[in-house]
Amino acid sequence: MTFVKKSADKTPIVDNVFSIVSKAKQDKQQNGSENVIDATIGSLYGEDEKLVALDEVFNHYDAIDHRTKAAYASSFSGNPDYRKAVYEWVKQDADVKLAHSVIATPGGSGAVSMSIETFLDAGDTLMIPDIAWGNYALMASVNNINVERYHMFEEDHFNLNSVKETIQKVMLKQDHICMVINDPCHNPTGYSLTKEEWKELITFLNEVSKTHSVVLLNDIAYIDYSYQLSTSRDYMETFNDISNNVMIVVEFSCSKALTSYGLRCGGAVILAQKEEAVREAEIFMEKKARATWSNIPNAAMSNFVWIVTEGKDAYMKEKQKYIDLMKKRSEIFLEEADQAGLAHYPYKEGFFVTLKMKDNAYRDAFHKALMAEHIYTVAVNKGIRVAVCSLPVAKVYGLAEKMKEIERSLN
Ligand SMILES: Cc1ncc(COP(=O)(O)O)c(C=O)c1O
Repeated sequence: MTFVKKSADKTPIVDNVFSIVSKAKQDKQQNGSENVIDATIGSLYGEDEKLVALDEVFNHYDAIDHRTKAAYASSFSGNPDYRKAVYEWVKQDADVKLAHSVIATPGGSGAVSMSIETFLDAGDTLMIPDIAWGNYALMASVNNINVERYHMFEEDHFNLNSVKETIQKVMLKQDHICMVINDPCHNPTGYSLTKEEWKELITFLNEVSKTHSVVLLNDIAYIDYSYQLSTSRDYMETFNDISNNVMIVVEFSCSKALTSYGLRCGGAVILAQKEEAVREAEIFMEKKARATWSNIPNAAMSNFVWIVTEGKDAYMKEKQKYIDLMKKRSEIFLEEADQAGLAHYPYKEGFFVTLKMKDNAYRDAFHKALMAEHIYTVAVNKGIRVAVCSLPVAKVYGLAEKMKEIERSLN
């Protein structure tokens, strides 16, 4: 007897993060937290090894009137002041000249999944990086959408050639192209494309758009932890050159930006040359929102608006302390890794550093060997993810050398 619809993929979710997180927890209970290195946790943690909840975010949130928290949002596409604030926040000083609209979503997940469902039908193909947040593939699979993966890197830079080849392959079977770029602060490698790389990508997408419509989903979940915050949006100016047949949806999340993962607030910023194109996507997304989550937490939207206006200076100052902390943790780790000869993908900024693995069989052996030495990480495609967002400085010191020793013992 089966009840779930025929087309559903009935294999259970494989969550390789949570199972490792619980192993690490158990080890800490048995052997003492000081003897365990838990580099699995993908949220921002302080030096006290506890989740960071920014005071400048939550003090104001706590003071919000109960009725504001109780109320529905004023629109299914999000409160108007929130939609405007998200647009301004996402682009900041970048001179973006495109037609635009914002749909409020439950976090970045809501924005990405709604976009995938807006632009692709069952049986279509979505392009994602070969090293990527696992949820992209899941979002595609629950909608019976296929994925084609482009290689993230060629030597130590973004692999535009692979993007081109992958698009050309998909062009043969589909008249529309939809791809994900998770940038800046790529999860899990910490790579950010240069403005030149963005320019080249946009030029290529324009070429493709002569025969195929193109939608680029730019997932910016970690942008507000860029080590070059003031120029972190500069690349968006390259968007101005898109042709009429290209659309970009910037997927924004308050989860990391405001340390408010559980408040489920984000937005999809639709950008195109023509108002009509933006309006068409907006109409469908609004219906999708109404039919799926109905509306976004009113107080979460209202809090965001306050933080990016009246509360901005204090919020930026508090967040900067943690950006500096993460920079320090990542610099120590990378310097020691380079000294020890521990290979990693090109990291520039962001929550994770990922060690380079020659294949997944070797990665699994290494991952297991690390755990035997009380070092917990997350295995990703051809890599081992080290969460510098949650690892205290004291535990970063010496970690790369320990990992290298374990690697030597494997060979
Ligand atoms: C790459 C990436 N995109 C988007 C998200 C979305 O997170 P949320 O739905 O909490 O905003 C995450 C969260 O881990 C992520 O890692």
